[in-house]
Amino acid sequence: GVALAPYSPLAPPFCCLTPLVHIRRSVRALPSNTHAAARIVCTAETSVEEQKKTGFDFNQYMGERAKLIDAALDKSVPMQYPEVINESMRYSLLAGGKRVRPALCLASCELVGGSIDQAMPTACALEMIHTMSLIHDDLPSMDNDDFRRGKPTNHKVYGEEMAILAGDALLSLSFEYIARETKGVDAQRVLQVIVEVGKSVGSEGLVGGQVVDIKSEGDSSVGLDTLKYIHEHKTAALLESAVVSGAILGGAGQEDIDRLRKYSRSIGLAFQVVDDILDITATTEELGKTAGKDLAVAKATYPSLVGLERSKEIAEELIADAKAQLASYDPAKAAPLYALAEYIKMRKN
Ligand code: FPP
Ligand code: MG
Repeated sequence: GVALAPYSPLAPPFCCLTPLVHIRRSVRALPSNTHAAARIVCTAETSVEEQKKTGFDFNQYMGERAKLIDAALDKSVPMQYPEVINESMRYSLLAGGKRVRPALCLASCELVGGSIDQAMPTACALEMIHTMSLIHDDLPSMDNDDFRRGKPTNHKVYGEEMAILAGDALLSLSFEYIARETKGVDAQRVLQVIVEVGKSVGSEGLVGGQVVDIKSEGDSSVGLDTLKYIHEHKTAALLESAVVSGAILGGAGQEDIDRLRKYSRSIGLAFQVVDDILDITATTEELGKTAGKDLAVAKATYPSLVGLERSKEIAEELIADAKAQLASYDPAKAAPLYALAEYIKMRKN
């Protein structure tokens, strides 16, 4: 079976940083009782001054959040007959992802006055959807990738049929899970969340973005508008539904939802711009997936269209826009979303 990689203070589960930190990355071996070859982690040397100023330790925060989220994910897919499908689902779901989407959902819920418990089933569902999209994205008929999160891709371990089915099962479970497991939230709000998440996944969201991405491959006439469409749909849509769903579950009013939607759109696009940058600046070991792929398949990216320096500026601008949306909140309460935005800009994998 697949075991959860244990968390220890020596191998933090999440790569994180507070603003102005210096980052060191490393790939650590996983215990031999897992299928994984390695878990990508990075440690942050946090600036003591910055910590004192903000009083918020993002590194510690994300470590604790990842533990909670991983424990909830572990319970969400029990091992039962037919074991192979559950094993395949768990292999990718518990592969030590950064848990950015669930963390955003929980933080957004708490910012508007909700609790972790109210948002956790949706947080898990978002990670299930993200994971299934990566399993399918890595398939031979799509990107044909061999490594993900520092481990062989799902189809490399379980075969193509099982990888397709594991993705399908995770997608189905995600919606069931929101509906079945959300407690202490008005049913109308739960329905709203299901619509929000559904929209972000289908042909108006992830799938739409992936379609245009595939159709654009090798097309040298792809411009910034098309690229923005791809990024906004393939990547930003799910980040948006993470933040907005958290707010809905926490009882937010329309003004908060609108503000947090703007925040999430900016971090969402920034996330993919940074992904484009990392594809050319980071190594395969650092990323836990094949680096330099965009270049190899002549994919349009922000660096290929506007250059590396301008891409970095765009990411900066987007993150500044996102942070501006948090200005009206108590800084202590908004600290997690503020730091998550900063992390998205500065992340190394
Ligand atoms: C990674 O992009 C891929 C995605 C973010 C989403 C892919 C979406 C699908 C396969 C649709 C899945 C189906 C449903 C129903 C959601 P990338 O290839 O640019 O990044 P990578 O280098 O991490 O692979
Ligand atoms: Mg891919």
